[in-house]
Parts: sequence; C-alpha cells; structure tokens
Amino acid sequence: MLEVNFDPFPILETNRLILRKIILEDADDYFEMRNNVDTMKYICKPVQTSVEETKEKILRINDMINFNDGIGWAVCLKTNNQMIGTISFHKLIKEHYRAELGYMLNPKFWKQGITTEAVKVVIDFGFNQMHLHSIEAHIDPANKGSEKLLQKCTFTREAYFKENYYFNGKFLDTAVFSLINPF
Ligand SMILES: CC(C)(COP(=O)(O)OP(=O)(O)OC[C@H]1O[C@@H](n2cnc3c(N)ncnc32)[C@H](O)[C@@H]1OP(=O)(O)O)[C@@H](O)C(=O)NCCC(=O)NCCS
Repeated sequence: MLEVNFDPFPILETNRLILRKIILEDADDYFEMRNNVDTMKYICKPVQTSVEETKEKILRINDMINFNDGIGWAVCLKTNNQMIGTISFHKLIKEHYRAELGYMLNPKFWKQGITTEAVKVVIDFGFNQMHLHSIEAHIDPANKGSEKLLQKCTFTREAYFKENYYFNGKFLDTAVFSLINPF
C-alpha cells in the first residue's frame, strides 16, 4: 500500500512558477476562477457565487492534505506569489499507487504554457517523491485544451465512458487519460 506524508507541505518550483499551499487569503483569487463560467465550463461542479463557498472549499482541500488523502497546490507566479491557478492529486487510490490529476487556470493566463509547466513538475513529484505507479485524468471529451495539454505531457487516452456522469440534467461522456511511471 502506498504511504504518503504531506507534512511538511511540499512546495514545488519551475522556471516561472511557485506551487504552494492554498491559504484562506487566496479566496478572492480562487473565487475569480470558481465563479467564472469559462473556467468552470468543463468542471461539472456548480459555479460558486460567494467567496464564503470558496473559503469552505479551501478548508476542505487543506483537510484532505492534513489527512494525507490527496494534495492540492496554488499555482502562483514567482514574480508576485499571487494564485493564478490550482493543480491537485485530488483522489489517491493508495492500494493501486494511482492518483487522479486535476488543474484549473485563470483565463487571463491561458495558452502561455503555464499549466504544462505545472503539470510536469507535479508529475515528477508524483512519480519520484510520492512513488505513484500511475496517474489518471478525467476530462470532458469536448475540453480540447485539457486534451492537448495532457497529450503534450505524454498522457494517452485509455478509456472512454459514454454518458457516465450526470450533471445539470444531462448525462455526459468522460475520457480517461493516463500515464504510467516511466522511471
Ligand atoms: C485546460 C487548461 C488548464 C489549459 O491551461 P493552459 O495553461 O492554457 O495550457 P497550456 O498553455 O499549457 O497549453 C497546453 C497545450 O494546449 C493547447 N491549448 C490550451 N488551451 C487550448 C484550447 N482551449 N483549445 C485548443 N488548444 C488549447 C495549447 O496551445 C498548448 O499546445 P501547444 O503547445 O501545441 O500550443 C485551461 O484552459 C483551464 O484552466 N481550463 C478550465 C479548467 C479546466 O477545464 N480544467 C481541466 C478539467 S479536466
């Protein structure tokens, strides 16, 4: 069985980014994303309508980390430490050494290679520090940006579920991408 310990919290760094713990002071920046219909289009979770909801979400993420049940980072520009996105292993399947990856970026920063940079360092952490055997990502097949990003990070599509997810009165398809530990 995989054993993980996220204490002390692992801060990750890339050329342009710091990936750090999400704190309550990030609530306004995080709310900007969770309240934005473009960002939430393929997330299949209700758009948040108050910063209070976002604060509760931040507390839930940090509870998950404290219990070593998953981990989420604030994606921040090194220049000002402001949160512009999130990235997470929000589901850990410890008996199978597998985790599910998720990410979201403020639209002001889309298509600048920022999430690619964050995904690469998180994958490296997942395989080399957490000792995962595989990583999966579930996407709405219409989410072409997410698909392209995963392919760029060497994920391949391994499954396609038809109408397996009920949200907002519709049954939606899911494409599952995965990456096996190459190290
Ligand atoms: C998906 C998302 C994280 C991509 O972030 P990003 O930082 O813009 O991605 P990158 O700049 O690293 O782009 C990676 C590749 O995907 C391409 N890409 C990004 N968005 C795209 C889009 N909407 N349509 C087509 N291609 C896109 C980029 O051009 C790049 O390919 P290239 O290097 O060949 O040009 C961002 O669009 C987002 O936050 N979306 C909303 C939340 C979401 O859907 N999360 C995923 C849930 S599964």
